[in-house]
Amino acid sequence: MEDLLRNEEEKRVKKAKLMKIFISFSAGMAGLLFGLDIGVISGALPFITSHFELTSRLQEWVVSTMMLGAALGAISTGWISFKLGRKKSLMAGAALFIIGSIGCACALNIATLLVSRVMLGFAVGIASYVAPLYLSEMSEKEDRGKLISMYQMMVTLGILLAFISDTLFSYGGHWRMMLGVISIPAIFLMVFVFGLPDSPRWLASKGHFEKAKDILRMLNTTDAKADGELNEIKESLKVKQEGWGLFKANKNVRRAVYLGMLLQAMQQFTGMNVILYYAPQIFKHAGFANTEQQMLATVICGLVNSLATLIAMKTVDKQGRKPILKIGFAGIATGTFLLGVCLYMINAGFSAIWISIAAVIMTLFTITSFAMSAGPVVWILCSEIQPLKSRDFGVACSTTTNWIVNMIIGATFLTLISNFGIAVTFWIYTALNILFVILTILLIPETKGVSLENIEKNLMDGKPLKDIGV
Ligand code: BGC
Repeated sequence: MEDLLRNEEEKRVKKAKLMKIFISFSAGMAGLLFGLDIGVISGALPFITSHFELTSRLQEWVVSTMMLGAALGAISTGWISFKLGRKKSLMAGAALFIIGSIGCACALNIATLLVSRVMLGFAVGIASYVAPLYLSEMSEKEDRGKLISMYQMMVTLGILLAFISDTLFSYGGHWRMMLGVISIPAIFLMVFVFGLPDSPRWLASKGHFEKAKDILRMLNTTDAKADGELNEIKESLKVKQEGWGLFKANKNVRRAVYLGMLLQAMQQFTGMNVILYYAPQIFKHAGFANTEQQMLATVICGLVNSLATLIAMKTVDKQGRKPILKIGFAGIATGTFLLGVCLYMINAGFSAIWISIAAVIMTLFTITSFAMSAGPVVWILCSEIQPLKSRDFGVACSTTTNWIVNMIIGATFLTLISNFGIAVTFWIYTALNILFVILTILLIPETKGVSLENIEKNLMDGKPLKDIGV
């Protein structure tokens, strides 16, 4: 009899584990598409430019229409995902990914290309908003960080794959293939999302307690644990108003929303995307003149970005969010400072090879510092700190901030370089990252191992932001 019980228990643990792998993989596919769409354009742009004979203004539009679409997607998905749920929103995102990539690949004129890029951006906005939120709601508190880091891992893999596929297609100048090939993983995303259960927290917020209980029981290793979680969820649902109403009425909700927006602005103002978008130019400044060397260096950047995310996956639930965030910002500050020094020396006429090598090492060091910290940790924190009743609204605000600042960063980098020079431009990022270390110490909470409901209780009790995870 005891053996039978143990067997049943083992089976259940195994089933819960398998389900979680499926969930993190499927939601991770949304991250992969997010990454593919961020990464693909740098390699395709030169070919698109010569095909449509684009001015530099139109080139900027080709790049930034996606971010514009993403900001629009993130802000409107708050409402869609609140009404329809996480699963249906992800399906809508997958459908737009398919239509958008096919539209880009088949564009006969620049207007169609721009419209398709906005559509694709909208899909990226949905994915970057819903997937981390869904994952945070589907995981147990002990491995929430790992699950969302896994999502970030898929984002970085997407960027890397896009760099590799761009390099391969670039030999024949096949920009339509570069953009169109993304529809294949988008179809997979659609299929996988079909099999996903809806979030128990969202179901409960809509009054479907029985369904929520079934899913919690499927995800947890014991019924008692699942029922305990459902009770905590019910408790946090007792607050009446929702979203915008709650934001206006409640100071604590406003604090959480502003904190999420600050976190995403910090992530983008690290300057990481400048390095990713303009890696070939940086390597050109560092003295690597030929295009193949620059392409190779870009692929290496993508690879280091993915590998360093593994460090976060290992540490985020053990050492915690705050220490790695501090180390990460300090690392980026050091990396961008020394990269600036190298580029300054090269511009001043020093041509020793070790300076160019040092510049490459510093670029990779900066990427590593970001990927092991702010990359995943900001997405984790943003999905953890919002109270349930206004979670959609709060996460929509923070994700939209991510895309708006992303757009600002991309659009100002070349102007900053031409006004101040490349070295000073990187030192501006150094100063910002030093500021972020201080802000992390003063404002950012440690949330490792704390249930979402407890974080919410501390926030609503008016505890200082940095203590809401205690
Ligand atoms: C950021 C993206 C960035 C990516 C790089 C994400 O966390 O939000 O803007 O391109 O990391 O890996």
